[in-house]
Amino acid sequence: MSLLRHLMADMAIDIPQELIGTLAQARRVAVLTGAGISAESGIPTFRDALTGLWANYDPQALATPEGFARDPKLVWEWYAARRASIAGVQPNPGHAALAALERHFDKFTLVTQNIDSLHQRAGSREVVELHGNITRVKCSREEILVSHFPDDESPPRCSCGAYLRPDVVWFGEMLPAEALARAEEAAEHCEVFFSIGTSAQVYPAAELPLRALSAGATVVEINPERTALTRHARFALQGAAGSVLPQLLAKLATASA
Ligand code: OAD
Repeated sequence: MSLLRHLMADMAIDIPQELIGTLAQARRVAVLTGAGISAESGIPTFRDALTGLWANYDPQALATPEGFARDPKLVWEWYAARRASIAGVQPNPGHAALAALERHFDKFTLVTQNIDSLHQRAGSREVVELHGNITRVKCSREEILVSHFPDDESPPRCSCGAYLRPDVVWFGEMLPAEALARAEEAAEHCEVFFSIGTSAQVYPAAELPLRALSAGATVVEINPERTALTRHARFALQGAAGSVLPQLLAKLATASA
């Protein structure tokens, strides 16, 4: 975590009353989350200049089908290590606040680029996973999910003979069509759209807030740093999600009481 983010983590943020008023009236809300929401749980983001995964590892070697074809053992073991470290962390107050926020609205769709299951573990019910989930494994040829496999090979093989791989989306691959369709539908039909903890650089996820904006939604960003989206957002709450979201939830609860 950078010093700036560390200092911001505990700061009280000014949450505009206008935003709380808009939320108190809203029935349909959509949220897009990225690696930043899990940063306070101890999972590194991707693009932080010092601690980001892509500052320390080569995405071409580890997160592409070509990288897997070149060195399947390296890729399998890198994901196995990430899976083990993710299993040891806990959801943070940002995840918990989003799970509680879900109950305030008729329709609340939480779209995530994260593969860590922390939203589900915090109690969120309607989670759309755009980039897959690291806890699942699938056949690299038939694409079917596999839950039991021998763990003495690296990577293990499917009964069809092909290697197994993590059920995550790699660069150059299509997003799961149903998840993308649900995310686009939520973005185009919400009244308020939150973009939380994402650098808004990876498409098609980064297009979702812009779709919401074009459809007339109020776009809110929560991020300690500016992103490509910040200038389009009606409200840019500059702070850590684990601090801003509980404050927003408390203000909304007071306004709705
Ligand atoms: P990035 O690493 O690109 O961006 C993380 C964002 O979170 C940055 O804008 C940070 O400023 C912000 N951030 C950090 N700490 C935060 C906190 N406590 N609260 C709120 N925000 C915080 O991660 P993503 O945008 O998620 O895809 O990256 C998108 C995709 O690129 C990932 O899903 C992954 C990656 O390559 C694939 O692997 C296909």
